[in-house]
Amino acid sequence: MPDRSAPIGVFDSGVGGLTVAREIMAQIPNERIIYFGDTARVPYGSKSKATITKFTKQIVRFLMTQHVKALVVACNTMSAYAIDEVEKEVSLPVIGVVKPGARIAVSETKNNRIGVIATEGTVGSGMYERFINNIDPGIRVFAKACPLFCPLVEEGMLDDPVTDEIARRYLKELMDKDIDTLIMGCTHYPLLAPALKRLVGESVRLVNPAYETARELKQMLTYKDMLNDSPFDKQEKDHEFYVSDLADKFTHFAADILDDDSIRTSEVDIEKY
Ligand code: DGL
Repeated sequence: MPDRSAPIGVFDSGVGGLTVAREIMAQIPNERIIYFGDTARVPYGSKSKATITKFTKQIVRFLMTQHVKALVVACNTMSAYAIDEVEKEVSLPVIGVVKPGARIAVSETKNNRIGVIATEGTVGSGMYERFINNIDPGIRVFAKACPLFCPLVEEGMLDDPVTDEIARRYLKELMDKDIDTLIMGCTHYPLLAPALKRLVGESVRLVNPAYETARELKQMLTYKDMLNDSPFDKQEKDHEFYVSDLADKFTHFAADILDDDSIRTSEVDIEKY
């Protein structure tokens, strides 16, 4: 019988996965989260598949020491390149963000023209196109790597004219393709949603795969009879946050994103795993 009160492991290359953690906390509030952000080695988006796979396996090994009951790969780049390896490594339920993001975009588009903005790695993997066209081969997918977005987010430049200008240049190409749906295919990007929305306007629907990921996680845990049935008690046992570097910087960010001032972050030597 699975231990329903065990936590869920959620991980990303840095702070981006917090957008997924936030959604899980909102949709399945009884669940406790153990979050890992690889702040020492971010960004992942410009690294090779082999490196990303090695880093992902180390994070999974660390999270397994925390006795998690399920894993959420809250990073598109790791989901695109290494989810198969994660599934081979563990016998727990594993969910990534790319498939749920593709599914929701397909259900949203009316003109069958979907844009994807993501890291170079995710765009290069072609995973969004593959999943979208598996569902509906008639949909045209236009992907654009936006490598400057991650550092802008990690620097907290969410509402800044420099960010707006960079976004304008990146998105022009996609807007010219007449897309009606835009997948924010990197977990950092929903933090730029207000700036992106200003640019694309009302006629383009912004898709945040985090929402659908949390919904599918809930379904999966329900199906496997693994949902925590006792209420989450922060005083008894809180969510836990781990990073590979700069814990204080992460704490500030997480407090802001999760609107919680009580967050504490610990550093882990992830190379040991
Ligand atoms: N947040 C990650 C993603 O969803 C990657 C950002 C990075 O490390 O480049 O792809």
